[in-house]
Amino acid sequence: MIVAPSFLTADFSNLEEEIVSVSAASWLHFDVMDGIFVPNRTYDHGMLKIIKAYSNQFFDCHLMIANPGDVIDLYAQSGADLITFHLEAARNHAHEIIQNIKRLGVKAGLSIKPDTDIDTLKPYLNEIDLILVMSVEPGKGGQAFLDSALDKIRTLFKWREQGHHYWIEVDGGINLETAKKVRQAGCDIVVAGSFIFNHHDRDAAIRELAHAK
Ligand code: DX5
Ligand code: ZN
Repeated sequence: MIVAPSFLTADFSNLEEEIVSVSAASWLHFDVMDGIFVPNRTYDHGMLKIIKAYSNQFFDCHLMIANPGDVIDLYAQSGADLITFHLEAARNHAHEIIQNIKRLGVKAGLSIKPDTDIDTLKPYLNEIDLILVMSVEPGKGGQAFLDSALDKIRTLFKWREQGHHYWIEVDGGINLETAKKVRQAGCDIVVAGSFIFNHHDRDAAIRELAHAK
């Protein structure tokens, strides 16, 4: 599996070292929170620009914000390779937002919270590049994995067999044990924050997750 270290738990006072410490991962996951869609606030596209100077990894931007359609250009210009927004925040503009992201040459991702029904994604399966299944309530790191995510992954894997091409990514509570579960369910990419950043050997943590099965 592809591993995307989540930058939520990083030490921002030591940015360059933190980025180098997870350079074994081909992706970096940026958790953007606005304090409106989720209670916490983190950083915005400005952080991407700064980090882009230290890393040529694939920048996976997870927008946990209200009105994501308003800032797509800013993230594209700041170096995002993938922009994922929440269906719950799109308020009937999801098709338009997906098209705007793709028009900028960036991959488009759609995410749903644990309580959102998987069937709400059906209208977008043909056009989306990635689906992000939240296995925790968005808003903070270090939470326990919700097993309800496994059925969603299995369903997405089954639907994809019918002729779609989206990646399946899972985010929240990922450790060695849950990484095995999500891989067996059909996941392609795992996001991990605390498991990697709290591990004494971050290289080893990334490798373990990548080979979990
Ligand atoms: C939660 C974020 C996740 C989180 C993952 O809102 O989207 O990316 O930071 O952190 P862990 O791996 O610690 O659950
Ligand atoms: Zn995330």
